[in-house]
Amino acid sequence: MSQELWTSVDRYITKTLIPADPVLDAALTASAEAGLPPIAVAPNQGKWLMILARAIGVRSILEMGSLGGYSTIWLARALPANGRMITLEADPRHAEVAQANITRAGLADKVEIRLGKALETLPELAAEGNAPFDLIFIDADKENYPGYLEWALRLSRPGSLIIGDNVVRDGKVIDAADPDPAIKGVRRMNEIIASDPRLDATAIQTVGSKGYDGFMIAIVTDQE
Ligand code: SAH
Ligand code: DHB
Ligand code: MG
Repeated sequence: MSQELWTSVDRYITKTLIPADPVLDAALTASAEAGLPPIAVAPNQGKWLMILARAIGVRSILEMGSLGGYSTIWLARALPANGRMITLEADPRHAEVAQANITRAGLADKVEIRLGKALETLPELAAEGNAPFDLIFIDADKENYPGYLEWALRLSRPGSLIIGDNVVRDGKVIDAADPDPAIKGVRRMNEIIASDPRLDATAIQTVGSKGYDGFMIAIVTDQE
């Protein structure tokens, strides 16, 4: 089993199940041309997120880490006409590319990009009364995942979904001694989740064009 095969199968899945999509293609092209790193979710992952969002009848979404707005567009497409999404991005260049991509996708009226470090903009969101969100997608800097998880809990309600990207990282997540702050961040987040009765959670490993990684998914319970 190899990266080459995983990529071929992702290509097959995308070709077979995901219709050609000029708007999403343009978002990736514009992101690449602007020099953004090629780390957006894969097309089949983006659609998987969109289907999950639609399945819960999502009306409000919060995302941490916009990059060029690729996952943002997938998720925002699950929103009804009066639905709202806020996506948090620290890098002004990324936010600029994301804004253009979101506008091209016809989603500018539903999606707001908040520029700034998420741990600084999250308290503002809370103060403004934007919560609770039906779905929260955590995908910014991995070392701050514990903080993002705490905020996600504060900004959610029983039944909300909290999804975290990149929680396996080539299997490095099992190494308690790994000094990488990203690994430490994901492990700490998992510990917090495990000890909090307000969350029921699991994670799945994924392989594909993005390598070997995984998603965490948690549902907020009505426990105190
Ligand atoms: N969700 C995107 C990928 C996000 S990549 C997609 O799948 O299409 C991670 C993003 O988080 C990058 O754009 C990076 O600039 C941003 N980021 C890093 N640290 C951050 C922080 N402290 N606050 C907000 N965004 C941050
Ligand atoms: C990285 C970040 C991501 O969100 C991702 O999906 C893949 C890689 C990174 O920072 O390397
Ligand atoms: Mg990611």
